[in-house]
Amino acid sequence: MPQEPDPTDTQNFLKDAKAAAQVIQETIQNDGFIHIFSHLDADGIAAAAIISKALQRQHARYRARITQWVDEKIATEIQADKPELLILTDFGSGYLELLTQQLPNQKIVILDHHQPTGTNQNPNITQVNPHLHNMDGATEASGSTVTYLAVKELHPQNTDLSPTAIVGALGDMQDRYNQRQLGRLNTILVQDAQKVGLLKVEKDLTFFGRETRPIHKTLSSTTNPFLPGLSGEEDKSLAFLSSLNIPLKSSEKWRSLSDLTEDEKKRLCSALAEHLLSKGLHYEITNLIGHIYTFTAEEPSTPLRDAREFAVLLNSTGRMDRPSLGIAVCMGDRKAALQESNQVLEDYRKSISKYLNWVWEKPERLKELENIYVVNGEDFVSEKIIGTISSILITSLPNPQKPLIAYANVPNEGLAKLSSRTTDMAIRKGINLGIVMRAAEPLGGKGGGHNIAAGGQVPIDKADEFVKAANDLVGKQLRGENVESDNNS
Ligand code: C5P
Ligand code: C5P
Ligand code: ZN
Repeated sequence: MPQEPDPTDTQNFLKDAKAAAQVIQETIQNDGFIHIFSHLDADGIAAAAIISKALQRQHARYRARITQWVDEKIATEIQADKPELLILTDFGSGYLELLTQQLPNQKIVILDHHQPTGTNQNPNITQVNPHLHNMDGATEASGSTVTYLAVKELHPQNTDLSPTAIVGALGDMQDRYNQRQLGRLNTILVQDAQKVGLLKVEKDLTFFGRETRPIHKTLSSTTNPFLPGLSGEEDKSLAFLSSLNIPLKSSEKWRSLSDLTEDEKKRLCSALAEHLLSKGLHYEITNLIGHIYTFTAEEPSTPLRDAREFAVLLNSTGRMDRPSLGIAVCMGDRKAALQESNQVLEDYRKSISKYLNWVWEKPERLKELENIYVVNGEDFVSEKIIGTISSILITSLPNPQKPLIAYANVPNEGLAKLSSRTTDMAIRKGINLGIVMRAAEPLGGKGGGHNIAAGGQVPIDKADEFVKAANDLVGKQLRGENVESDNNS
C-alpha cells in the first residue's frame, strides 16, 4: 500500500467534506444551535476540539459533549433539546439506523472513520467517512483527521488546527507506515502542519516520554521494541546509560531523551542495536528508530511538545471523566486546564498500573479460550479505562493470533463495556473485530469499530454468552468462513 493518498479517492472524500462544511455553514448563517457529540478517547477529544474551535471562530452557538457511545437515552435527550444541527465526531457511522429511527427529522453531520454499519439512506444525514471511498479508517484517517478536513473546507484559517488532528491520529495508533509514520489521508495533516510552521518531523529513537521522562525511565518503560534486561528494569537501564558515559542529570535536573546531543543519541542507538543483536533480536533493531512528531510552538519538556505524549494526556482526561480539560488544552489553554490535565495524567497512570497489577495478580483473571483471550475486569476496572488496558495487554500476550476481549461493569446500568484488540498478524489471517463485536446485537447490546480495535456493550448477564459467540466468530474468521461480509471493512 503506497503511503501517499490516492488522488481520486481523496478528491471524492474531500467532496463529502465540503458538503458537510456547507451544512455547517448554513446552520451558522441561520444562527442555529449546534450540538456536538464526540467519543471519549484522544482522537474523539481532539476531534471535538477541532470542530469547537472552528465554530468558535465563526461565532456559532454550540455545545460539545463527550460520551463512550450514543444510545436511545442520549437520542431522547437530543430530541428534547432540538438543536438545529447535530454533529457527531469520531463515531456515528455505526449508529445510522438508531439515528434515523430515533431522530427522524434531525439534521445530522457525521465525521467518522469507523466501519459504517449499513448504507446511509437518510437525506438528513451528511456522512463523511474514509471507508466510503476505499480507504481504511483504522490506518489512513482518524476521527480528528476527518473533522479537520471538514473544517478546513469551512475556512482556510483552520489549517492551524492540523497539529490537533495529528494528536488524534497518533492517539488511535495510526502511525502504521514505514518506521512509525502517518500515511495516506493523514499525510495531508503532516503537510499542512509543516506549512504553517507548527511541526517538525524527524527520525529518532521512538521511546515513549521523550520530552518529559528521565532517560533511564524512558528506556525501562519501553516495551516496543522489547529490550531484554532493560525493559521493566530501571536500575539496569541506569547502569546501561552510565556505561555509555551519558550523564543522567544536567545540573540538578534529570535529562530526557530530547535533551541528548546527536553524539550521545548515536552512541545510545548503536549500543542498543548491539544489545539486541547479542540477544538474537536482529529484527527488533529496525523498530528502534521511527518518525517523531514534534510541535515546535509548544514548550520543551512538557507533554504537549511530542505528539504521542500529547495524545496520552488527552486520553487521560477523557478516561478519567475530565474531557473538557483536554478540549480546553487543544483549544489553546496553557494555564489552568493544562495544569489540571497534568494532575489527571498522573492519576491515570496510577490507575492503569493498579488495573494491570490486578489482572496479573491471579492467573485466572486472564483466560485463554480456543480462539481468544478474555479478561473480566468486573467492578474493579473502570469501564472507561478497560479500552486502554486492552490496548496494553494485547502487546504482551503469548499468541499474537488470538484477539483479546476485555470487559468491565458499567455502574448502575446493568451493562458490561466490551473492549477488544488484536494484532496486524491476526488481521492478515482474516480477523475483523468490528464484525466480531456485532455479536453483541442479538444479545440486546451493541458493538462495532475497526478490524484491529473494536468495542461494545451487552447486558451483564449476557457477557458469558457474548464471549462464547465471539470465540466462535473468531474461529470462523480464522477458517475463512464467510461471517457476515461487510462491504466497507
Ligand atoms: O474510537 P476510535 O477509533 O478513536 O478508537 C480507536 C481505539 O483503538 C483507540 O483507543 C486506540 O488506542 C485503539 N487502538 C489500539 N491498537 C491499534 C489501533 C487502535 O489499541 N493498533
Ligand atoms: O471502547 P474501545 O476503546 O474498546 O473501542 C475500540 C474501538 O471500537 C473504538 O474505535 C470505538 O469507537 C469503537 N466502538 C464502536 N462501537 C461500539 C463501541 C466501540 O465502533 N459500540
Ligand atoms: Zn477514532
